Amino acid sequence: MPSREDVHYFGAGPAPLPTAVLEEASKVLLNYNDSGIGITEISHRSADANAILAHTQSGLRQLLDIPESDGPDGYQILFLQGGGSGEFSAVVYHMVSIWVARKAKELGGDEDKLREEVKKMKLDYLVTGSWSLKASQEAARLAGAEHVNIVTDSRKHRDGKFGTIASPDTYTPTADTDATALTYYCDNETVDGVEFQAAPDGANLVADMSSNFLSRPVDVRKHAAIFGGAQKNIGTTGITIAIVSNRILPPHTPMADAGLLRKLGLPVGPVVLDWPTIAKNNSLYNTLPIFDVWIAGQVMQKLLDASTGSPRIATQQSESDRKAATLYAELDGSDAYHVVPDNSVRSRMNLCFRVRGGDAEAEKAFLKGAESRGLLGLKGHRSVGGIRCSNYNAVPVSAVEKLAKYMKEFAEGKI
Ligand SMILES: Cc1ncc(COP(=O)(O)O)c(C=O)c1O
Repeated sequence: MPSREDVHYFGAGPAPLPTAVLEEASKVLLNYNDSGIGITEISHRSADANAILAHTQSGLRQLLDIPESDGPDGYQILFLQGGGSGEFSAVVYHMVSIWVARKAKELGGDEDKLREEVKKMKLDYLVTGSWSLKASQEAARLAGAEHVNIVTDSRKHRDGKFGTIASPDTYTPTADTDATALTYYCDNETVDGVEFQAAPDGANLVADMSSNFLSRPVDVRKHAAIFGGAQKNIGTTGITIAIVSNRILPPHTPMADAGLLRKLGLPVGPVVLDWPTIAKNNSLYNTLPIFDVWIAGQVMQKLLDASTGSPRIATQQSESDRKAATLYAELDGSDAYHVVPDNSVRSRMNLCFRVRGGDAEAEKAFLKGAESRGLLGLKGHRSVGGIRCSNYNAVPVSAVEKLAKYMKEFAEGKI
C-alpha cells in the first residue's frame, strides 16, 4: 500500500492539502483545544468557533490585502455552502436585487416605469471556458436569457473551442453601464486551462476565483465581489468564500423587496445564499462547518508564516509561477506534447496538454506510466480529454520536479 509520501496528486479539486495541516487536523478531530471534544462536535456559536472564524478571516485579509472597514470602502469575508455553483446563483440574485432597488428609488417607486427600465437590465458575462459558460447559463435560467449579454465567447475566436481570451477591443459590453447589473468573469478556467493575466474592466465586476485563489495578488478594490470554493487552494470541500464590497451591501445600498422582485418576474433567492443575511450574521446564519473554516485558516497561516514579501501572497505567487514554468518548459521542449491553450493565457494552476497529437493510446500510456510512479490525477476533464496537471499551492516543488522528469523520459521514449 503506498504511503502519502509515495504519491503525488495533481487532481483538479478536491486537491492536496499540506500534510502538516492534515496531521494537526487528525488531532483536533478528536480533541479541540484540550476541551475533550472534537472540532466537528463543537457548536458553531461557541467561543472556540468564533475564534476560528476570526482567525481565518484575518488570514485572508492579510494575504490578499482586503480592506477592512464598516464604510463603503470595506469588504466583508463570508463563508457559505453550496460551492462555486451555489455562488453562480447567489451572484445573480444579489446583483439583480440591488440593481432593481436602485432603479426603484431613482423612479420614486413608479412601478410602470420600473417595469420598462427592467427590460433594459443586463448581466454581462465574459465566457472564456466551461465554468463561466455554466455561470452565464445559470444567469439565463434565473433572470431570463434576454437579460444576459455575452461580452465575449472565446470559442468564437478559436474554431469553436475554448483555449484563448480574446483581446478586450473585441468585447461587446452593454453600452449603457447604468443598465449593467454585473460584469462576470472566471479568473482561471479549471477545465480549459486559461487564466486572465489581469482583471478585466467592467461595471460591478464579479470574479470566480475558485481555482486560483491565494496563488497571486488580487486587485480586490476593483471588484464588487470575488468568490471561490475552498477545495482547491484553500482547504476541504464544504465552504465557499465570498469577498463582498460594502458598497453592494446594506446599509450602503438597498435591497429590493421580495414582493417587488416577484411582481417584476425576477428571481428571489434562498436565504442561505443571501449575502446580506450571511454578512449580518458573520456567516453564522445557519450551521457552518467550522472544521472546514479551521482547515482554511491553518492553510492561510502556513502561507503567512512562509511569506516574506508584500503583498503577503507574493511569496506563494513566486512558487506557483516557478512550478508552472518548470512544467511548461518540459512541455514546450518536446514535440511529444502540445499545450492546448494559447501561450498568452496559459493557466499556472491547471496545465492542459495533449500527448503525441492527442493519440488515445499515447495518452493512455502517459497516464499509466505516471501512475506507476505515483503521479496521480492527471487525466483531463471528461468534456475535453487529454491531460491536465493541476499545480495547486499544496503540490510540492518536489512533486513538480518528479513529474517534469517523467515527462522528459516519456518524450524521449524511455518509458
Ligand atoms: C472555476 C470553477 N468555478 C466553479 C466551480 C464549481 O464548484 P463547485 O463544484 O464547488 O460547485 C469549479 C469546480 O471545479 C471551478 O473549477
